Amino acid sequence: MSILDHSPSRRNFLRQSFVFSAAAALHPLASFAANGKPSPNPHAAHALMIGDWGDDRRLDSQSSVARAMAAYTRQYHLKHDALFLLGDNFYGEFPGGVNCPRFRTDFEEMYPKDVFDCPAYAVPGNHDYEARPEIKLQSQLAYAARGNTRWTEPAQWYSYKFPLQKPVATVIALDSNMPFPDGKLAHGYTHVMTEEQRQQQLEWLKTELAKPLTTPFRIVIAHHPVFSNGPHGDHKVLIADWEPLLREHKVHLYLAGHDHDLQHLEFDGHPTSFFLSGGGGADLYDERNEVVKRGPFFNKVHGFSHLEATDKLLTLRHLDTEGNMIHAFTKSPDGKVAILA
Ligand SMILES: [Fe+2]
Ligand SMILES: [Zn+2]
Repeated sequence: MSILDHSPSRRNFLRQSFVFSAAAALHPLASFAANGKPSPNPHAAHALMIGDWGDDRRLDSQSSVARAMAAYTRQYHLKHDALFLLGDNFYGEFPGGVNCPRFRTDFEEMYPKDVFDCPAYAVPGNHDYEARPEIKLQSQLAYAARGNTRWTEPAQWYSYKFPLQKPVATVIALDSNMPFPDGKLAHGYTHVMTEEQRQQQLEWLKTELAKPLTTPFRIVIAHHPVFSNGPHGDHKVLIADWEPLLREHKVHLYLAGHDHDLQHLEFDGHPTSFFLSGGGGADLYDERNEVVKRGPFFNKVHGFSHLEATDKLLTLRHLDTEGNMIHAFTKSPDGKVAILA
């Protein structure tokens, strides 16, 4: 074949490419990467989330997740509107309290501001309730209160809009460290919230949910999962206190960690998608074998998760330390769920 023979088809190819890009620009939600998985939409709001991330053993799992988050952010030219820190923010000793150097090494430098120039909204995990030697939750609240940091935790429970400009979701961040039913601390615990705090938070949650919704979506975030296929299983107190409220107020998403894996659970007729991201750095957990497996997704893997949001659609993705998208789904304001990958 001569060069001339090639020319028309190359022009055709270019024309088709242009038509494709123009269509993609007009319909960014329909943009798909070469592997058929949905690419992030640059026009949406974005948040990355990690749970169970504050590893104190200086192993590579936390930093490999952090590197994957940065590489993913650069690959798709994402400008993040938030980080969600899903609890167990710091395992182990935390010397110095509010002045602990781990705020700098394990957070400020681990997830650098030039990549994640956004508020980092934290909820307390059970390890954040430990006194090592001071209660780590108190140190985190005090660190956030200083104001010259992205760490955002104005109270044990609080709400905010996501993103801050032109919000599409109302987010309720909760403290799930419930007192144990018999009033005693389970093995490994030094503190949990008091019964009085549990009641106060529940009343506050009811008041928040009763307010007219001013955004298309509503999201609840806490460390402990309501439902989980991991070893911690389903949480009896949260099922009693919160699950009926999630159902009644048609909360779109419940985000949690605590089990060290990545999950997405859907229940027939339930308006809430239960999404668990506990692979931020700590040792991984096996799936429980004795329960009937629920889905659509469980994976015992280190990684992070990505919330993409427009006023018409939430897109949730789980990613591993290689940046591979291992699960994705969308949710519309009316509650419809579509599994993408
Ligand atoms: Fe944990
Ligand atoms: Zn935990």
